[in-house]
Amino acid sequence: MKIMDIADKEVTFYEIDVTDAEAVDIIYRNYNIDGVIHFAGLKAVGESVEKPLDYYYNNIVSTLVLTKACQKYGVNRFVFSSSATVYGDNKVPFVETMDLLPTTNPYGETKAMSERILTDIANANPAFSFSILRYFNPVGAHESGQIGEAPNGIPNNLMPYVTQVAKGKLEKLRVFGNDYPTVDGTGVRDYIHVVDLAEGHVAALENLTEGVRVYNLGTGKGTSVLELVKAFEEANDIEVPYEIVDRRPGDIASCYADASKAKQELGWAAKRDLIAMCRDAWRFEKKYKE
Ligand code: UFG
Repeated sequence: MKIMDIADKEVTFYEIDVTDAEAVDIIYRNYNIDGVIHFAGLKAVGESVEKPLDYYYNNIVSTLVLTKACQKYGVNRFVFSSSATVYGDNKVPFVETMDLLPTTNPYGETKAMSERILTDIANANPAFSFSILRYFNPVGAHESGQIGEAPNGIPNNLMPYVTQVAKGKLEKLRVFGNDYPTVDGTGVRDYIHVVDLAEGHVAALENLTEGVRVYNLGTGKGTSVLELVKAFEEANDIEVPYEIVDRRPGDIASCYADASKAKQELGWAAKRDLIAMCRDAWRFEKKYKE
């Protein structure tokens, strides 16, 4: 496995469905588990509107199965992948203390529900230490170019779309709207390098304390679609043709983090800049073969 090369360590891997309580139980039974990071879930916003049952089933049942096994086997340390989508259309920057606004799709709802489930479990079981990580927009790939993002079919997200346009697999980027109240009218997001994101999980696991804690994992910096395209062109010396089209339904104008809590409490801050994100995303795309 590529992960073993990168980490230079043996890694035990089981391919199981985490909604399968029996299969999960076998693993908990056979290992002395110190902590769990729960990443498994479906994550495409548009698809979640078409297949709500798949999203609720996979994303909620997996959380229930894993936490139940934690309770059964006395595993108290748990880190969960949530999403900035739980903030809804709040005022930027998004801070962990904000009241959450309604989510606009089943995917977002599964994250908001999972957060509530974990909070209730932690409140009822004082021994539990839960860390809920709200991801902003993860992009890029491992610097080695060995592992990265390989979406099925036409990508929904901006960066994989951009890399496929640069490679000539797609003709041009469609920029969804240029009439938002932002720096240049295009949507603003907080892009975070996946390796920074991964390091955020290690920091969360190492700094778990009893009860439930919520952290934004973002850079704290907003970048517009056109700024990202320009950074990609500069970082890789390649052109990304684009056209402006209508807004995509459900998109908000701006989404970026107040990243100070993770820095104060976990000693973690994102280190890699937008140029590194663009360079690493492109390195992976060039290496990656269908
Ligand atoms: N965009 C384009 N063209 C594209 C794709 C995206 O212009 O082909 C724009 C979007 O309109 C948006 C920005 O690029 O302004 C980022 O879009 P993404 O689809 O990459 O990401 P989103 O911010 O829409 O969604 C991400 C995650 C979701 C998560 C959400 C909220 O993919 O899982 O952030 O945190 F729910």
